[in-house]
Amino acid sequence: MSELQQPTEQHYQYNDDPTFLWQTICEHLEKKGFSESDLNSDLLAPIDQLHIGGRSASTDLLAVSGLAPESYILEIGSGLGGTARLLSDRLDAHITAVDITPAFTFACQQINRIQGYSTINSVCADASELELTDNSQDAVWSQHTIMNIPDKDKLFSTLARVLKKGGKLLLHEVIAGANTEPLALPVPWASQAEQSHLPSLNQLVELLAQHHFKPLHCQLITDKALDWRTKHSQREQGQQPKGNIQSKSPLTPVLVFGERFITMGKNVQQNLADNKVQILEAVFEYQG
Ligand SMILES: C[S@@+](CC[C@H](N)C(=O)[O-])C[C@H]1O[C@@H](n2cnc3c(N)ncnc32)[C@H](O)[C@@H]1O
Repeated sequence: MSELQQPTEQHYQYNDDPTFLWQTICEHLEKKGFSESDLNSDLLAPIDQLHIGGRSASTDLLAVSGLAPESYILEIGSGLGGTARLLSDRLDAHITAVDITPAFTFACQQINRIQGYSTINSVCADASELELTDNSQDAVWSQHTIMNIPDKDKLFSTLARVLKKGGKLLLHEVIAGANTEPLALPVPWASQAEQSHLPSLNQLVELLAQHHFKPLHCQLITDKALDWRTKHSQREQGQQPKGNIQSKSPLTPVLVFGERFITMGKNVQQNLADNKVQILEAVFEYQG
């Protein structure tokens, strides 16, 4: 086990048993009158789009991605697989969905099996140490993942190795803001400061340039993210009526993160408002 794996796993997986999260989700659904056959993207959205902006942030990135149908896509930090399934639905893509947290990978595999997603290969692995063939991927997709990875040089070397020349790196990431004071913690990606590895925009673009990635689209979407997070924090605290997704689904990120999620959500809102973090939507091209 690498040094990284332990703190990341400890943050995301609060029970040693990798099947525990999936059992918890199933029990919750059953209690609310749902069965396995009811699983669909609306029902799963509160737990399988674990990033600021939810599913619309994923469809926004897809809209600027330039991805072609039937692409070979590596998703790093795929969580419970909501985006992998979205890419499969929209593009008929062949997806390798990699996540370091065993409980997330197990739940993702169960959902894919039940829903019949045979073109998604969900693997529990470190995104920096992949066994994928060189030059095999048309794209790498990452949403709210690289801030958990301390050695970005190693990560980008691996991504450059597996991408085809002209392949895309698609990012929807939390990066450092101008305010360098300590983050309000916990946040969904870190319980402690040692688990958060936020690059600045300049550091990220420079490091990617060293690995021959050229920016095609780089947009800070922080204001939109703050609006979304504020609205969701208000809903989570019962200060606003449920939204469309929450009305359709009894699931909530509290099932994944525990009760601490309410504080995490409020802290993300505060960190965004204080310019300690920013949200980036970006497309890079690997130039070989
Ligand atoms: C905030 S979650 C986002 C999950 C997913 N991308 C989504 O948006 O729903 C970050 C994910 O990155 C995964 N992760 C962190 N470090 C990783 C690494 N080195 N390799 C693979 N996955 C990693 C975590 O296990 C977690 O599932």
